[in-house]
Amino acid sequence: MEIIHVSAECYPMAKAGGLGDVVGALPKYQTKLGHIAKVVMPMYRTKFLYNHEFEVVHKGAFGMAHYWFEYTIIKEATNVLGFDLYLVDINGLLNREKIYGYDDDTERFTAFQIAVVDWMSKWHHHPDIVHVHDHQAGLVPFMMQHCYAYKNLSSIKTILTIHNAQYQGWMDWSKSNYIPDWDKWKSGLLEWDNTINSLASAIKCASKVNTVSHGYLEELMYMANGLEKLFQYERGKCFGILNGIDTEVWDPETDKYLDEKYGLKDFAEKKRANKKELCARFNLEENKPLIVFIGRLVGEKAADLLPQVIGDSIYFMEGKMNFLVLGSGDPYIEYQLSNLHIHLFGYYNTQIGYNEKLSHEMYAGADFLLMPSRIEPCGLNQMYALRYGTIPIVRRTGGLKDTVKDFGEPDGFGICFNTASVGDICHAVYRATELYDQPEKMNQIIQHIMQIDHSWERSTEIYLNLYRA
Ligand code: ADP
Ligand code: GLC
Repeated sequence: MEIIHVSAECYPMAKAGGLGDVVGALPKYQTKLGHIAKVVMPMYRTKFLYNHEFEVVHKGAFGMAHYWFEYTIIKEATNVLGFDLYLVDINGLLNREKIYGYDDDTERFTAFQIAVVDWMSKWHHHPDIVHVHDHQAGLVPFMMQHCYAYKNLSSIKTILTIHNAQYQGWMDWSKSNYIPDWDKWKSGLLEWDNTINSLASAIKCASKVNTVSHGYLEELMYMANGLEKLFQYERGKCFGILNGIDTEVWDPETDKYLDEKYGLKDFAEKKRANKKELCARFNLEENKPLIVFIGRLVGEKAADLLPQVIGDSIYFMEGKMNFLVLGSGDPYIEYQLSNLHIHLFGYYNTQIGYNEKLSHEMYAGADFLLMPSRIEPCGLNQMYALRYGTIPIVRRTGGLKDTVKDFGEPDGFGICFNTASVGDICHAVYRATELYDQPEKMNQIIQHIMQIDHSWERSTEIYLNLYRA
């Protein structure tokens, strides 16, 4: 099969979160199984771009509203990622350093999608599947089916993967002229709640839709940031497919970011060495349980609760544990977390920002990983933590519920709680400190979790079956 993934992120070219990890891995595993998997994404000005060689494969132009844009498609020349990576350049719109966060993101991603569809319409053959990821690629199925200029693509099957339904790509009807001319009878396929909604449009137009865990798909039926009714209506073509993790990148035995690599045989000694180094660097005590948080500092991740959880835990449990936070996001949460450091010096530390290397060192050196998420469509952090022998403390929601079982249950191995409240999270932290005081039990659990298989092989097959369907 020939599959084209359309996405705003793909690791290591550009990653803001799990979307990048997934789009950097799934095509690689599809290629390994003998399929042709290609990724097309915007040509942001990232380090990867400057450190690799590319060749120009296509040049074209399109109109968007009253403007005329020229675009160029380049392809990574050496197949270093294990699949073909194509980048779309549109001067003035995509030639930026960051992925998101600009005032003209609507214009940027609409133009990106038009360029992709325009390019595909010039091919001499048709791919089997166009697989779009999240709302930044959500207009593609509509454009392929209903824009006059691209009618030659209308028979190609499309798949939408929803990594996060909170963000939907809303666009006022006054911007409808951004979309290349279409059959106006079909306008309803663009709309939800009186506005153009890219994610809703893709849910309506894609041949099949999937979310990244079963648990999340069920939640969307009653909690989907306004799209609940649409999910209920389209339930028949929606599936849940749990993400995998790229075990070539995330393996404590070969991880290029770790000084002390380790496996099942030597984890006790080497994990301790990683922890010692991390604690020394961040002024923490290596003989206390180290609880870490890694992620976007936003409400979805319940990051707003972290300052109080950390303060209360350290205060009421008399400093029995240490916390280390790595993240970026909401400026107010960043400010609070930075400030807290002054009051809790020696018990807590933080690095605000995005740091791939440090994240690997934290998965390796920590005892526990905290994920109190209010919404977690899948969550990759807990799966990385498991592989690195770090016990996840998670709220029972979405993909977290599907991948972590409380150690109090038969065959359980993590710490689970039900509500994203300071009280519940602190209680879970307390249970972590109790568990830490039982080294034998800890070791048993670590051995068990390091062997849990969350590799992409299984999920890749399920995606292929979805394509075949
Ligand atoms: P989401 O995609 O919702 O942010 P996931 O759990 O699916 O959540 O994936 C998050 C990914 O981003 C993981 O690879 C995690 O290690 C990484 N990550 C998040 N924040 C940071 C950060 N500040 N520095 C380094 N890596 C980060
Ligand atoms: C999203 C979700 C996260 C998921 C990731 C990859 O960013 O928030 O839960 O793991 O996509 O699918």
